[in-house]
Amino acid sequence: MAFMELKGKTVLITGATGKIGRVLAAALAVEGMYSICHFHKQKQKALALVRQIEQQGYRAAAVQADFQEETQVREMFRQAQSMAPIDLLIHTAGLFSKTPIEEGSVCSERALLGVNLMAPLLLTHLFFDSLKNRQGPNPVGKILYFTDAAAMRPWKKYSVYCAVKAGLSAAVKSLAKEMAPSVTVNAIAPGIIEGADLTFREKERQMAKIPMGRFGTLDEVILSVLFLLKNDYITGHVLLLDGGRIL
Ligand SMILES: NC(=O)c1ccc[n+]([C@@H]2O[C@H](COP(=O)([O-])OP(=O)(O)OC[C@H]3O[C@@H](n4cnc5c(N)ncnc54)[C@H](OP(=O)(O)O)[C@@H]3O)[C@@H](O)[C@H]2O)c1
Repeated sequence: MAFMELKGKTVLITGATGKIGRVLAAALAVEGMYSICHFHKQKQKALALVRQIEQQGYRAAAVQADFQEETQVREMFRQAQSMAPIDLLIHTAGLFSKTPIEEGSVCSERALLGVNLMAPLLLTHLFFDSLKNRQGPNPVGKILYFTDAAAMRPWKKYSVYCAVKAGLSAAVKSLAKEMAPSVTVNAIAPGIIEGADLTFREKERQMAKIPMGRFGTLDEVILSVLFLLKNDYITGHVLLLDGGRIL
């Protein structure tokens, strides 16, 4: 059976200092990939992650960028690409904040749009461009974004976050058609994943609404990522990982 061999591939993981990005960077390195770990502010955390991966005998590196700045996105991609040609792009970097309509904070709206939508689209363009002359059986590259179950079942007071994540989910489908057959484009839409910063009371309240009766685990995120990365025929798919919450 032929499918993309992940061992030996290079993966750029944005938001590798985040809850999900960090475990993914480590797990994909263990699968034999060179994990290039992007961070924004948490340099020490990124360097510690790289050290941890290297001490286990695997390969990793760190690159920095603020995704609200186009020039920084471009420079980060150039730097990552100079370390090794990138085969896989996983965008976990994300901003999450309330934007109550009565407050109308243009500042946080721009930040949400920049980090959660404009940056992944620019990275996608740069990545696609870098693959232009890549030889090999298709797909030669794969993209995986992180959207949110809230894109499908929006919460109140988070209209911008939900709209931006819904926009990214639509982009997955559009880009999948545009970039086939050389690149697959998919996304994972998590519900609440373990480790969420919630009070005991709020955790209980949220869990009661989830048919599976608990939050998702980081291992379940890793499994879903590997499933999508290993499969060459799935493209344009947004995989819900929410324990049935939106049903
Ligand atoms: N965790 C969940 O339960 C959950 C549920 C639904 C959807 N998701 C989605 O899954 C993805 C990962 O979630 P997570 O919980 O791992 O997020 P997280 O822990 O909040 O991490 C966010 C990451 O984004 C980076 N970041 C923040 N602002 C940035 C900026 N201006 N420029 C560049 N990078 C920036 C952070 O970098 P630094 O730390 O270096 O500053 C960090 O690595 C997100 O897209 C999120 O929306 C998560």
